[in-house]
Amino acid sequence: MKKILITILIPILLQSCVYNNEEMLYPRQDSVNNISYSETISKIISNNCLECHSNANSDIYANGNRLEDYEDVKVTCDNGKLLSVLKHKPGFPKMPLGKDKLSDLLISQIEQWINEGAKNN
Ligand code: HEC
Repeated sequence: MKKILITILIPILLQSCVYNNEEMLYPRQDSVNNISYSETISKIISNNCLECHSNANSDIYANGNRLEDYEDVKVTCDNGKLLSVLKHKPGFPKMPLGKDKLSDLLISQIEQWINEGAKNN
């Protein structure tokens, strides 16, 4: 009887651990609230830009423009280029190069983060 209880209980306990972890790893990303560099911005960049703009690849694939480190992203925000390339403004190369424009939600998350000071948070 004890064994049966344990076999039933352990998976249930494990299940609740997994659930908690997911909540912590993937906080709500469907709004422009609580945007942080570490949780939101660096992930957008990593998913869409680093194949060309990583420190290792940028010289070969992105004309030396780096976006892997916060400092490099900050410079690109401050000179206005980040939003211009994402919004496909005239006179700027359209990013991500050769792919669809990022969704309005992702662009507004980046814009919100910049409006809040583009902090390393
Ligand atoms: C397939 C490769 C590739 C991907 C993916 C890519 N880029 Fe680029 N990016 C380039 C290249 C190549 C250039 C240089 C273009 C030029 O100078 O005309 C560039 C230039 C830039 C520049 C500098 C523009 C300027 O006027 O100086 C910025 C900012 C930029 N990319 C941002 C991004 C962002 C943000 C993403 C992801 C959303 C992204 N890129 C995805 C290849 C890429």
